[in-house]
Amino acid sequence: MTLHSLENCGVCTACDLSRTRQTVVISRGDPAASLMLIGEAPGAKEDESGRPFVGRSGQLLDQLLREVGLDPDRDLYICNAVKCRPPGNRRPKKGELLSCRPWLDLQIELVNPEVIVLVGSTAVEAILGIKGGMTQLRGQWQHWQERSVLPIFHPSYLLRNPSKAEGAPTDLTRQDLDAVRRRLCER
Ligand code: URA
Ligand code: SF4
Repeated sequence: MTLHSLENCGVCTACDLSRTRQTVVISRGDPAASLMLIGEAPGAKEDESGRPFVGRSGQLLDQLLREVGLDPDRDLYICNAVKCRPPGNRRPKKGELLSCRPWLDLQIELVNPEVIVLVGSTAVEAILGIKGGMTQLRGQWQHWQERSVLPIFHPSYLLRNPSKAEGAPTDLTRQDLDAVRRRLCER
């Protein structure tokens, strides 16, 4: 990484994902928000549009955010651990996460959020260095770099487990997002 400006992220070729991507997917939402969400990597819809979380997962995430009273356009900034789509939507490799990390660090520095939500296990691994165990980790507040950090299930997991029942993954995620909203109100 030579020039640490987010504008340069759009032309980054630091890892092989640059060869197969259509668009570098950097962020959406408000860069001045106190809340930052970090997902895994762009999928097909994101790669086409250049915006994170706009496919089925993103629509479900936005719906749950709205249900707890958070406005996805105004109350948060959303990005991914890697900015280019992995072919076939495979998980990003360790080297890809490392190559892309300076961009994520720059985003955290610029947005300077008080609360970070880690959406799914890849984001948890990237930031906290903890592998797996989302059932135990979700909903458990962590402290990292003077920030409150909350792991939540990835919406793709909720789409695979669509039960609306109390205590099912979707309900737990709504509860987690509600805890995020309350944490932001406490400030
Ligand atoms: N899944 C993610 O983790 N991020 C996106 O932007 C879309 C789907
Ligand atoms: Fe650069 Fe990240 Fe895209 Fe790799 S995934 S080319 S490091 S922006």
